[in-house]
Amino acid sequence: MRQLLVIVLAAGEGTRMRSSVPKVLHAVAGRPMVSHVLDAALAAGAARIAVVIGPDHDKVAAEVRRVAPDAEVFVQSERRGTAHAVLAARAALERGYDDVVVMYGDTPLVRPETLAALRVPLAEGAGVAVLGFRPADPTGYGRLLTEGDELLAIREEKEASAQERTIGLCNAGLMALDGHAALDLLDRVDYANAKKEFYLTDVVEIARGLGRRAGVCEVAAEDVAGVNSRAQLAQAEAILQRRLRARAMEAGVTLVAPETVFLAADTRFGRDVIVEPNVFFGPGVRVEDGATIRAFSHVEGAHVGPGAIVGPFARLRPGAELGQGVHVGNFVEIKASDLAPGVKVNHLSYVGDSSVGANTNIGAGTITCNYDGFRKHRTTIGANAFIGTNSLLVAPVSVGDGAYLATGSVITDDVPADTLAIGRARQVNKPGLAARLRAKLSAGLAPKK
Ligand code: UD1
Ligand code: MG
Repeated sequence: MRQLLVIVLAAGEGTRMRSSVPKVLHAVAGRPMVSHVLDAALAAGAARIAVVIGPDHDKVAAEVRRVAPDAEVFVQSERRGTAHAVLAARAALERGYDDVVVMYGDTPLVRPETLAALRVPLAEGAGVAVLGFRPADPTGYGRLLTEGDELLAIREEKEASAQERTIGLCNAGLMALDGHAALDLLDRVDYANAKKEFYLTDVVEIARGLGRRAGVCEVAAEDVAGVNSRAQLAQAEAILQRRLRARAMEAGVTLVAPETVFLAADTRFGRDVIVEPNVFFGPGVRVEDGATIRAFSHVEGAHVGPGAIVGPFARLRPGAELGQGVHVGNFVEIKASDLAPGVKVNHLSYVGDSSVGANTNIGAGTITCNYDGFRKHRTTIGANAFIGTNSLLVAPVSVGDGAYLATGSVITDDVPADTLAIGRARQVNKPGLAARLRAKLSAGLAPKK
């Protein structure tokens, strides 16, 4: 087993994003780009991950710690080129790993398999291996100068001759280095070039000058799509959505209209889940076997139990926990609430900060009034209860098992088990008054107040 150090370069400013947020924190499929890169590094079996960030990128450091708590974070205080950035992780390189792989924080679609492929030449004795791809338009990329399957050099666009610029095989940016030679190679890089930067790409010629071989692996352009602008962010999103939909369908999910369903990188499905058209999944969703998410629903941070039916037009917000067979219907919003098996909330309701016991029926238009303008309060409803249409439950409040709330009640006091609660003014009927009222109104007289 060769020990792997992955160095993620994430010090870029991302000027073209025109954003106050560091570029690598922009999300694709609901997850920051840098986290996708860290996921790939972890999946590829990295023994250690080092992330190089820019000054004032505390938020990037925090995200790195969240996703990969063992990763080391290094700050590159001045942006002096990709080799300079890698050397910011000198302390990690000094520990002497077998393989070092450099990744970019703004290239979120790299697959773990690609990292494995890039390490193969190292295991076969190469000093360095580079990932090549053939973009539709190679402008701006370093060109790979090859002879057979030998890589001779990487020529940056600015340094390339007109003839070299006709080469279609480009440097994707990912590079694998013999970990025991990496520091020596990197320390030999200088900045005598058009951009006056320390180019990581120079290590290819340096390694060859020292008698080491340089390998090249080729991957599909979409796997190494880099993000420099909002337009490219949208392109990366489209690619990842296609991948995630394909993966869901392979795992046994029916997507009726796959191109209209938006998934998060961490969306988890059981088997025989059906997702109707136009559904959006934010981060943190798990949908269990046999559940159906009907059209136009928005689901985020929620757990949908087996056989549950959600939507159409439902919204599940973070902390929504739906047990087996729960029904959440149209224009219903559920937030931070546990709905035990068999609960039905079928129409026009808001259930927040609540727990609802098994088989309870919540009538149309029920609202849990969970916020008093200062604090959130909980509503607890027992099992087999009946919450009448258009009830308001003013939290904190609890309703016992088997209780029955009359339609239109405003419930401010706890309701014990098996109790009928009526919290509304009594109706008054005045026989004949309708006709008299009509007569007055038609005669142009105002009714008595
Ligand atoms: C680099 C490669 C080029 C390749 C292209 C692929 C070099 C010299 N050139 O060019 O061959 O085709 O990527 O996209 O390596 N970064 C830092 N600190 C720095 C400089 C860069 O962290 O001082 C990070 C950036 O945030 C980015 C990555 O390194 O994630 C690449 O830097 P960038 O300036 O985009 O390099 P390119 O000129 O695109
Ligand atoms: Mg770039």
